[in-house]
Amino acid sequence: MTGPLVEGWSPGPARDEEHGEMDVELATEVCTGRITGHGAHVLGWAPAGAEPVIWLSSQAVFSPDAAIRGGVPVCFPWFGSGRSGSLSPAHGFARLSSWRRVSMTDDRGVVTVVHELDPAVAGGPEFPFDYRAVLTARFGEQLDIGLAVTNSGAVPFSYEAALHTYLAVRDVTGVSIEGLDGATYLDKLTGQAQRQEGSVTIGGEVDRVYRSDADVVVVDEAGGRQITVSKENSASTIIWNPWVEKARSMSDFGDDEWRSMVCVETANVGDAAITLDPGMSHRMVARINVDRFGPGAPECT
Ligand code: BG6
Repeated sequence: MTGPLVEGWSPGPARDEEHGEMDVELATEVCTGRITGHGAHVLGWAPAGAEPVIWLSSQAVFSPDAAIRGGVPVCFPWFGSGRSGSLSPAHGFARLSSWRRVSMTDDRGVVTVVHELDPAVAGGPEFPFDYRAVLTARFGEQLDIGLAVTNSGAVPFSYEAALHTYLAVRDVTGVSIEGLDGATYLDKLTGQAQRQEGSVTIGGEVDRVYRSDADVVVVDEAGGRQITVSKENSASTIIWNPWVEKARSMSDFGDDEWRSMVCVETANVGDAAITLDPGMSHRMVARINVDRFGPGAPECT
């Protein structure tokens, strides 16, 4: 969909044959963007004229039963296999669930799309609580994604959440990730606790859960730009790149595509999980900005 988005739009779940859920695809004077109701999953965003900032696998599968590889999967109400290590599906059911689109507004090219997870279709024995989960994506010169969770029941509950943001870079081997110096992290590849010294660089598989609420800057020398991920109410940051072998082992990941992405995930996981008493809400926000700092590769015209 291009141009004014609100015209002709009708609320509620909708499906199309290719993607299972109705997508919103927008191109305004401010930005381009795309989101689907399957998982309330942002599939793309870039300021007008810029190359894609959000990475999407060329092999991504769009099916009601599958998680989409790339974009911004919403991990909720657990991360990975959860704190017990025994929960499935991986990263929670939210990214596999249908979210209802509740509103969409266009304010001079800045488009805000709100989705709500239907608790009636997602919960089950692993998460038998009354709650509301609302995902607000605001596509403008920057991309804002907010996940608000409310305890609408009578008992407290805890949850983990991550906005699992896949960022597009020109060459991950030359990328430097700033903002995590001094932070402790769990290295998921070894199970060891570590402390970050200096910037993070990627020279092999990286899968780390940082205890950090700091903003992160991804400096992409080859692309001539930097991407800033700013956070609100997020005490965890996950950095992930699968590198060569793991990328090859994933059918929804192009064999050589590991080079063109890195995940910087805005999250509350592990001992930073959120506990909500009845009536309480929590809202976590990821805000993505991109700035050019050199010639790099030409932007789109
Ligand atoms: C990251 C995890 O957040 O997501 C990794 O830390 C995981 O361990 C990666 O491999 C991708 O997960 P999935 O379930 O989308 O393949």
